[in-house]
Order: sequence, then structure tokens, then C-alpha cells
Amino acid sequence: MFYDPRENLRPGPLSHNPLNALVAPRPIGWISTISGQGEWNLAPFSYFNAFSADPPLVGYAPNAKVGEDGAKDSLANVLEVPEFTVSVVSADLAEQMNETSRAAPHGVSEYELAGLEAGESRLVRPPHVALARAVLECQVFDIVELPAGKDGRGSQLVLGEVIGIYIDDDLIVDGKVDGKALRQVARLGYFDYTVVDNLFELLRPE
Ligand SMILES: Cc1cc2nc3c(=O)[nH]c(=O)nc-3n(C[C@H](O)[C@H](O)[C@H](O)COP(=O)(O)O)c2cc1C
Repeated sequence: MFYDPRENLRPGPLSHNPLNALVAPRPIGWISTISGQGEWNLAPFSYFNAFSADPPLVGYAPNAKVGEDGAKDSLANVLEVPEFTVSVVSADLAEQMNETSRAAPHGVSEYELAGLEAGESRLVRPPHVALARAVLECQVFDIVELPAGKDGRGSQLVLGEVIGIYIDDDLIVDGKVDGKALRQVARLGYFDYTVVDNLFELLRPE
């Protein structure tokens, strides 16, 4: 089949917008932010990636209904305190990562909800998942407004410069991060996930 998503996002026989299944796997940015009042927030974003290696820049895109006071905390907080952390999700943290996608009742942090300990970050105010084997500490670089969709939801791309990187020393083998040991979780389409546990090397042509 071939179709123009500007006319219809899911023409038959598609029951869902297939974009998430086609742009996959996507790494999960487990984003922690802090409000001006010092309340912590933690939520997963698979509209997340790295956009530049030097200087290192990463971004995530929280969506919400436009025009209502419904901005996700992960956006509202960076407008108040322009910093965030990214905790890398290993397979053993997948269930807890999913728990933190609940809209937590006001005043309850997702750390508490998912039974996760928060670690103090070194260079930014938001904490991070203490058990994460790698963490990026970021300063907001820019927030780009993305167009609203037919369903009335719009999103913002929150770009951050990585100013601090934590890596569990045990993960560093021969000067490289051992991707197999990290067992990173990534998002596919629908409710499907994958774990990075099968690697192959392909050297660049001479
Ligand atoms: C694996 C996973 C990936 C997600 N990716 C996104 C995303 O890229 N953008 C988004 O707006 N919501 C995403 N969500 C939903 C948010 O995590 C959820 O709306 C969360 O409650 C937002 O939290 P906040 O209001 O505390 O910021 C994702 C959920 C899961 C489980």
C-alpha cells in the first residue's frame, strides 16, 4: 500500500498509525525534571534521541492537547528550571520505567510510585534513577514548538546540551561501553519493546 498521511493517518487495513513501528527501535529517554517548587518528575519518552555528538545534544518531545492547561510536567518543569537528566533504561528497569508513565497524582513523585530511589545529580538540580547504569545531565539548549496534529495534540522538542555523563565503571571494557552488558530497552510500535542483546560489527568501507 501507499498513502499520504496528510489525508488519513491510518487508512484501511491499518488500525493504528504505523510510524512508531517503522521508525523503530527508538531509545527511551527516561527524563527527570524538577519544578520551581522543587518537585521531582520522572517519565519515559521514546520520541527521544541524540542530535549532535560535539557538543553532545539530546532531545525529547512531550505531547499534549493544545490550548488546555494540560502540558506534561516534563515540559512545564523545564520552562521553570531548564535542566533535565536522562537515565538509561536497562532491561531490569523496564517494568519500573513503564510505571513512571502514569500520570501521578499531584504531589506524588513517580520515583515513589515506582519504588525507585533517586540519585543526586552532580551538575543539575533534577535527580536521576539511582539504579541506572548510565545517566546524562543536561541543560536546556532550546525548546522547539512542533505543529499540532489532527487530534488536537501538539508537541515541543526539548533539546538539551549534555554537560555531565555518568557511566558505571563496570560497563567500560577496552575503553568502550559494553552495549551487551547495558541491555538497553528500546521501543517499537504499539506496546512492543526490544532489548539490545544481539550486536554485530560492521566496519566502514576503506
Ligand atoms: C515507553 C514509553 C514512551 C513514551 N514516549 C512518549 C513520548 O515520546 N512523548 C510523550 O509525550 N509521551 C510519551 N509517553 C507517555 C509519557 O511517559 C506519559 O504521558 C507521562 O505521564 C508523562 O509524564 P509527565 O506528565 O510527568 O511529564 C511514553 C510512555 C512510555 C511507556
